[in-house]
Amino acid sequence: MTESLTGSDRGKYAAAKAALEYIKPGMKVGLGTGSTAAWFVQQLGNLVNNEGLEIIGVPTSTRTRDLAASLNIPLTTLEEAGWLDITVDGADEFDANLNLIKGGGGALLQEKIVASASNQMLVISDASKQVDVLGAFPLPIEVVKFGWRSTESTVEEVLEGADVAQRRISLREENGAPYVTDEGHYILDLHLNRIGDPKGLAEALNRIPGVVETGLFVVMADTVLVGYDNGEVHVYDRDRGDLGRHKVHMPGKNSLYVPGA
Ligand code: A5P
Repeated sequence: MTESLTGSDRGKYAAAKAALEYIKPGMKVGLGTGSTAAWFVQQLGNLVNNEGLEIIGVPTSTRTRDLAASLNIPLTTLEEAGWLDITVDGADEFDANLNLIKGGGGALLQEKIVASASNQMLVISDASKQVDVLGAFPLPIEVVKFGWRSTESTVEEVLEGADVAQRRISLREENGAPYVTDEGHYILDLHLNRIGDPKGLAEALNRIPGVVETGLFVVMADTVLVGYDNGEVHVYDRDRGDLGRHKVHMPGKNSLYVPGA
């Protein structure tokens, strides 16, 4: 119900709704992971089921695949789709250059592969994710299980030479055991507080053999839509800059379904 949603949920809903304007019939659409992306998937499902929108989706996680399938959104794999028109996904942080931290939900690897195979990456967010400098949110990196402690030590060495404010590393856990990604890897969360050089750090971390990918998405997002609880959406475009705000229609009381992903 709209009135029971927090401001942040309303912002996520508004951004997700604005993202629908970018979806055209016949498109192959990458479906992101997380609570904001779930709002998008849910609203996309409404268009598919109630207005006959014909698209095909490529999910970035089993969670999103399950949600989209439950909404009867036609799905395929990235292998089958080959190349996508657009990917719509959330973020944990974004800066003025539209660089992102992603992976809070543990799906960063598939998210990055899908976004990289798309003509356009559209990020949807509430206002809490907008930062001057990336790094307050712990940076997730996906590492192979084999020798992960050695990988962690090498990551520590890389961080010694990096422009960051803190250097604490934690192994992500779930129910008292290491969290395992869809691809069977572990996640190390890097508590850095400030990342002075996102591109340099991403490159240095990616050179470590046991690191599969990082949650730094540098020069990947084309557009970021920031939703507010009053239904306004601020549009930032990497090429065209600050495109200002417009308003989307917010549904009335009792008419919202809260997705579970
Ligand atoms: C999933 O792995 C993440 O990259 C999410 O996109 C990110 O954590 C944003 O999630 P929320 O929309 O739930 O904040």
